[in-house]
Amino acid sequence: MHFPSLFTGRFSDALSRCSFASQLDDPDRYAAMIRPAGNPKFGDYQANCAMPIGKLVADSNPRQVAAELIEQLQLDDICETPEIAGPGFINLKLKDSFLQDRLAEMLADDRCGVTPVASPKKILIDYSSPNVAKPMHVGHIRTTVIGNCLAKTLQFLGHEVITDNHLGDWGTQFGIIIYGYKHFGDPEVVRQDPVPELAKLYRIVHQLMGYHKAIKNVPKYEAEIARLEDLHAAAQQEAEGAEGKEAKKKRKAAESLAKKVASARANLESARATIAATDADPVMKQRAEAHADIGKAVLDETSKLHADDPENIALWEQFLPHCKDEINRIYSRLNVTFDHTLGESFYHPMLGEIVDDLKQRGLASESDGAICVFLDQFDAPMIIQKSDGAYLYATTDLATLRYRQETFNPDEVLYVVDARQSEHFEKLFAVAEATKLIDAKLVHVSFGTVLGEDGRPMKTRSGTLIGLESLLDDAVEAAYQVVCNPDRLVKLNPPMDDQEKRLVSERVGIGAIKYADLSHDRTSDYKFNLSKMVALSGNTSTYAQYSFARTTSILRRNEVTEADVVERIQAAGITFTHAAERALGLQLLQFQEALQNVYEDYRPNHLVDYVYSTAEAFSKFNDQCHVLNAETDAIQSTRLALVVLTGRVIKQALELLGIEVVERM
Ligand code: ARG
Repeated sequence: MHFPSLFTGRFSDALSRCSFASQLDDPDRYAAMIRPAGNPKFGDYQANCAMPIGKLVADSNPRQVAAELIEQLQLDDICETPEIAGPGFINLKLKDSFLQDRLAEMLADDRCGVTPVASPKKILIDYSSPNVAKPMHVGHIRTTVIGNCLAKTLQFLGHEVITDNHLGDWGTQFGIIIYGYKHFGDPEVVRQDPVPELAKLYRIVHQLMGYHKAIKNVPKYEAEIARLEDLHAAAQQEAEGAEGKEAKKKRKAAESLAKKVASARANLESARATIAATDADPVMKQRAEAHADIGKAVLDETSKLHADDPENIALWEQFLPHCKDEINRIYSRLNVTFDHTLGESFYHPMLGEIVDDLKQRGLASESDGAICVFLDQFDAPMIIQKSDGAYLYATTDLATLRYRQETFNPDEVLYVVDARQSEHFEKLFAVAEATKLIDAKLVHVSFGTVLGEDGRPMKTRSGTLIGLESLLDDAVEAAYQVVCNPDRLVKLNPPMDDQEKRLVSERVGIGAIKYADLSHDRTSDYKFNLSKMVALSGNTSTYAQYSFARTTSILRRNEVTEADVVERIQAAGITFTHAAERALGLQLLQFQEALQNVYEDYRPNHLVDYVYSTAEAFSKFNDQCHVLNAETDAIQSTRLALVVLTGRVIKQALELLGIEVVERM
């Protein structure tokens, strides 16, 4: 059930019958101007087209347009008589009888009333795609959780979805562990316990590289700070000398410079902290001195791998399966799967060909020894082969595009990747367009950063990114404290045994992390706050899971099954006798609208908002409408039906968010 399109269809018919029909440039656009009502007092939806049409039509005004439209509208079967409000809004209130019938239908439908889209698209989703030589960290949550939710939601809507985990299994990170293995590794330990040992080698080399980079950067940052401070002082002076508007402008400029100074200082501080951490550790300090050229040496190991050096290829073949095992363990805990896992290495043999192809077609050319694609709209070209012959991340992405076109021929390709890669994707899409490598809509579904309590990217005390696994463990522990505390559990009969407690806290804990992530507009950064995420009240998955568990407990207390309720409604239908029933019923029928909104701009937070509003509507209903002691059998049947539907909708919505429910908590 999708009310806006239902109204749009009716408005489209009505508009074609209005006296001003011939004056409308794009009637469908006006017909589609249906929004949820700003205030439920005035209706459920509102049509906003009379205002723009009123401006367009000669000798008319919006209220007149609205009046004529209402005369032509055929809505009797679904809607009360529309009302005009304010400058020309048309308020639409759905008829109770219409809602009741739709709810009865929904009860008999195993898709919660969501009809599959009429013209399904083939959508390829590139998500998660971690660089695998290092353990997954907090930075991988967002792509994995958002990508998985989009995949499930679009599939549920009826689209054909192909998921592809574009593993970073071929880049510098392998140069890092190969270097680490050769210089600090113990082959026996790597053989016996590869995963933690490789992670350790990665950390050592990464830290040494960071150390030398920081040493180089400190004087740069110092100079930058001095330069910015001078500019800031000058700007401040100018602002003091200026008056009125001019002064305001100058003050703004000074403020913006002050911010730049602060950020340069933060960079300096973090570089100094990086240096201090190594200085404080005699073993690492000694290693740092002995490996002063480590940055370049790691790149050399990577180049040798790419040039098919037998030793490095053998190491890569030895390490890769363990790296994959490591990430697969996390995926299985997160309950995430992929149709394909075509890593960067898969495309390696195609890179030379793609560069040649672009050169031959005159789309790529040489500049300073490198092969580049020049684009009018960008200052810098896209480099696809460096002067030393090495290929880049971008080259792989071009080969990937062509492979996807040839193999899957998708209508859309979604890249669920950090916003910091925006420029890469802008260029990639521009090159794809210019070179016609693919015939699909390409979208960078970008997202912001997960921040710690201090508002900076979340790190451990030693400065490395927090491992994803330990984060999951912490969440499960926090969930245990909240949902398995003895005060709450006394109410459960029979009591929870240890196994149930473990299952509940795992589902609640993992759910909390996913839900919190998906609840934020993906483009903004958010602060990671575990205690808020697992709280039993507020916009959390714990609250949604608890609402689901309440629906099952109501059925248990009434000693009915879902099948009993379906049967009762088939016989008696649904009839509202309380405003809270209608509000909940309408909310449930808006499930499809929420899902379509997710697809509209690839934003799962619409679905999270929907789950929360549903849980809230259910809670109000539950406070105000007795089920067990309902006045009549018919009233009780309606209420039971709403309870069943709430349970189903919340369960289905959470499942699309990648979250599992529990029967009781
Ligand atoms: N491996 C990359 C990273 O960790 C992300 C890859 C995203 N997908 C792509 N086709 N570029 O930054």
